[in-house]
Amino acid sequence: MIAVLARNRRLNTEPAGTGSAPGPERMPHRNGKTVAESTVEMVEVVLPNDANPLGNMLGGKVMHLIDIAGAIAAHRHSRRHVVTVSVDYLDFVHPIRVGQLILLRAHVTRVFRTSMEVEVRVFMEDTLTGEHRQTSSAFVTYVALDLQGKPTSVPPLIVRTAEERRRHREALVRRRRRLSMAASAHRRYFEKDS
Ligand SMILES: CC(C)(COP(=O)(O)OP(=O)(O)OC[C@H]1O[C@@H](n2cnc3c(N)ncnc32)[C@H](O)[C@@H]1OP(=O)(O)O)[C@@H](O)C(=O)NCCC(=O)NCCS
Repeated sequence: MIAVLARNRRLNTEPAGTGSAPGPERMPHRNGKTVAESTVEMVEVVLPNDANPLGNMLGGKVMHLIDIAGAIAAHRHSRRHVVTVSVDYLDFVHPIRVGQLILLRAHVTRVFRTSMEVEVRVFMEDTLTGEHRQTSSAFVTYVALDLQGKPTSVPPLIVRTAEERRRHREALVRRRRRLSMAASAHRRYFEKDS
């Protein structure tokens, strides 16, 4: 299971303040990193073991690759260990078949204090016809951890293009919705346990 909701301790919807800043040796990019510095592109050929009996790539395998691509982007941005804390709505619009290529592009859209939202877009490419189309996309949130396993702050994100600025703005709206949904889900878990 890729997505595990975080414990309901501090589900603020606003970006947190600077907090206790780590020393420069532990935060080499104090002034931030560009989106391009952590962007990830991955490609794999779909093999029979990745597919259902119809020859379509398994949704679980696609989710696995989404998590891997997104985590690499979060690693590159933070240069810390990261864990997946949330995956937004995911759908599969078009099948990817055995023998075709799956391509994934991941980029950080916004960072908060210890968490980073990463957009992962998934495409198929047919090696024989050259057909290329988007099949899925997801917003995955990762939390950077220090060596003790505690959430730790990450460098700011430098957004340069109009597209990056738009994604950055929209990420805040998604975060508010995500944290509000997580808070009510966590309340339900606790009610169930009591
Ligand atoms: C991720 C984890 C360390 C966060 O612990 P926590 O006690 O909630 O820590 P905090 O309250 O300090 O939150 C840390 C950050 O996560 C964010 N967060 C927490 N729950 C979230 C959620 N459901 N969606 C998005 N962000 C979330 C917080 O907003 C905070 O971000 P910020 O510092 O940028 O503002 C903890 O929940 C955990 O270990 N989860 C399991 C992770 C895992 O095993 N993933 C693999 C899944 S198979």
